Amino acid sequence: MRIHTYEKLWLVASMVLIVGFIATVTYGSVGLGITMIGDDESTIAPDDIGDDDQFGEPRVEQVGEDEYEAYVIAQTWTFQPDPIEVPAGSKVTFYVTSPDVVHGFAVPGTNINAMVIPGETAQLSVEFDEPGEYGIICNEYCGAGHHDMEGELIVQP
Ligand code: CUA
Repeated sequence: MRIHTYEKLWLVASMVLIVGFIATVTYGSVGLGITMIGDDESTIAPDDIGDDDQFGEPRVEQVGEDEYEAYVIAQTWTFQPDPIEVPAGSKVTFYVTSPDVVHGFAVPGTNINAMVIPGETAQLSVEFDEPGEYGIICNEYCGAGHHDMEGELIVQP
């Protein structure tokens, strides 16, 4: 009888350990102060992009006095809208998604650099102080037209 009790105890203990290990692997960053990139990224099914309120019509939208949201689609082998135009002195949050394959959304000369994964929305906020013109490039290999996949970002005076 006593042995059975101990056996049960050990069984329970080993189950707790196993569940604990799985939890550690799955939620390894919880409690360590590390934010997993992508944790709060929203999703959008590639087939729904055309009907989406935002991505159905890729654009820059003013959402506050100096705040803008840019809805960008990266697809083989273009960026939409092109050019992306925002005013200087504004804070712009980019939302970028792809209907086909993995692309990049990078603007050399700024810290804009995101991987664009089909089904997910990459989000990044940037403040533009000075007017300027930038090139947008795709830095993830995406097929035959990869090296020609580029757009333009214009920060208006
Ligand atoms: Cu798109 Cu490389």
